[in-house]
Amino acid sequence: MFKILKKEDLSEQITLFDIEAGDIARKAKPGNFFILRTHEQGERIPLTIADFDADRGTITTVFQKVGKTTHHMGTLNKGDFITDVIGPLGNHSHIENFGRVICVGGGVGIAPVYPIAKALKETGNTVTSIIGARTKSILFWEEKMRNVSDDLIITTDDGSSGAKAVVTVPLEDILRNDKVDLVIAIGPAIMMKFVCKTTEKYRVKTIVSLNSIMIDGTGMCGGCRVEIGGETKYTCVDGPEFNGHEVDFDLLMNRLQAYIPEENIAMNQTEEKVEVKYNEINKRRKKSKAQSADEGAASPCAG
Ligand SMILES: Cc1cc2nc3c(=O)[nH]c(=O)nc-3n(C[C@H](O)[C@H](O)[C@H](O)COP(=O)(O)OP(=O)(O)OC[C@H]3O[C@@H](n4cnc5c(N)ncnc54)[C@H](O)[C@@H]3O)c2cc1C
Ligand code: FES
Repeated sequence: MFKILKKEDLSEQITLFDIEAGDIARKAKPGNFFILRTHEQGERIPLTIADFDADRGTITTVFQKVGKTTHHMGTLNKGDFITDVIGPLGNHSHIENFGRVICVGGGVGIAPVYPIAKALKETGNTVTSIIGARTKSILFWEEKMRNVSDDLIITTDDGSSGAKAVVTVPLEDILRNDKVDLVIAIGPAIMMKFVCKTTEKYRVKTIVSLNSIMIDGTGMCGGCRVEIGGETKYTCVDGPEFNGHEVDFDLLMNRLQAYIPEENIAMNQTEEKVEVKYNEINKRRKKSKAQSADEGAASPCAG
């Protein structure tokens, strides 16, 4: 059982949890992810470790409510428990002093880019970060990103914050004028595809973190397979980071849509049932915790 120590709604659709998970926090590195199951019958979903604190024993995750599991996660609160959390999974980011690095985060991809930008800055890189979202109300972590970047550029599709542009516009401006040693891009597959198309023209190495559908997260099921440079790779054990210029993004996007009818049915049919069940389970957990605290206080061994 893993306790939610903090819940913060970063926007209507995006929520942050700090989860008590000491073993994972002590081993986590930028770029790692974890898999959780909110309850015994729940599905396993992968989420990036957006931050971690080994001393407090916490991992931070930022999730966007897109379907059944993430919506139900949104109904959990501080003090509630998540049944299973496994990690850290995947290969961590390769961090060294590359020189001038541009970190691009789109939408909820800002969260996974943050620990990488932070580690790159701490290693002496000059870090320019570009963060983008459709509109201001779904942008988050501007201050956090500013604190780990030499420069921060904000873009929104509707111009409600920063430049009215997509992230590739300021990226191309920089590439046209300056020498850049590495670009890291995390966000929707379509954004990563166009970042790679842009950087390819300037021959700048580009790392992307892929969000393929995962089941076991340990290389056994084949669900997360992607094509990299014409070879089949498994995002969970060979990635999640890959050379963006070798990724078959069209295949990735196709595979991400493979279960949309089932996902819609799951979302529509079970939402109310599961919500009621979560509330019951959490009520029971709190009650039994309160009982054991009372018993502990009454016990001659207590204290
Ligand atoms: C390595 C990795 C890191 C990720 N990190 C984050 C993160 O930090 N924050 C965040 O909001 N999202 C992250 N995702 C995506 C997240 O796992 C999906 O949004 C989530 O699984 C959706 O589940 P759902 O039941 O709410 O939605 P569903 O309705 O089941 O699915 C909505 C969409 O999410 C994707 N998805 C569904 N099931 C899975 C699955 N088992 N594995 C991967 N993708 C799935 C599909 O594209 C699907 O169309 C990450 C994915 C990967 C692979
Ligand atoms: S999730 Fe099963 S092989 Fe990667």
